[in-house]
Amino acid sequence: MKSRKFLIAGNWKMNKTASDGVDLIKDIVAAVGPQTEVDVAVCPPFTGLESASKALEGSAIKLGAQNMHPKASGAFTGEISAEMLRSLFASYVILGHSERRQYFGETDAFINEKVTAALKNLLKPILCIGETLQERESGKTLDVVKTQLEGGLAGVDASNAVNIVLAYEPVWAIGTGKVATTEQAQEVHAFIRGWLATRFDKAVAGKMRILYGGSMKPSNAPELLAQEDIDGGLIGGASLEAKSFVDLVKAAMSAG
Ligand code: PGA
Repeated sequence: MKSRKFLIAGNWKMNKTASDGVDLIKDIVAAVGPQTEVDVAVCPPFTGLESASKALEGSAIKLGAQNMHPKASGAFTGEISAEMLRSLFASYVILGHSERRQYFGETDAFINEKVTAALKNLLKPILCIGETLQERESGKTLDVVKTQLEGGLAGVDASNAVNIVLAYEPVWAIGTGKVATTEQAQEVHAFIRGWLATRFDKAVAGKMRILYGGSMKPSNAPELLAQEDIDGGLIGGASLEAKSFVDLVKAAMSAG
């Protein structure tokens, strides 16, 4: 029995219209609705958040966003604030996803501003970290992860840290079908937990959830979730269809 509650979070990325999202949520709610053994969240694109929020009413499934701006309001065309997300009853926000880092130039310092703003607004950040293939092949994985942790969590104090979820997502495993081996994943997860114990303390590190992300699907989930330091999954492709997403929730229920 793990001391931390598993979290299975669906990152829909730029997929699903608002109405397609509601259809998917209805199927997920029907299949996993009232259970509270495993925390479950869906993260639709901004345009689907309001209808998703309504469709989730009365279920134990939480709502998350995929990004936000650190400032409270102002001249930031195309951006969304933490308060706006809270007004739609979002609980989580994915921050620093590798696609945001890669395609939108997000730096650790900017991501850190977002983490701080999310916490201030009682949103739980899902802070994504992970190395590229080139970084792994040149033996830099743990250095890269450490730099991202130091930058992303700068200024965060221990009392807030327990509200942060980390997601280790090796960039080379995202959407590629190439999953990290359980040993590769557990090695980095254990490293992250060790780093958190030094940065905060052991008790805090023991409470923080570290998700794995990168081609996680029902067939590889049981083995990954059985690892000591893997506390759930951030799911892209397999979250777009009710059956595979629900099977992942079930895998977490059996692994718990
Ligand atoms: P994937 O995406 O499951 O499609 O690999 C995971 C993610 O990018 O969060």
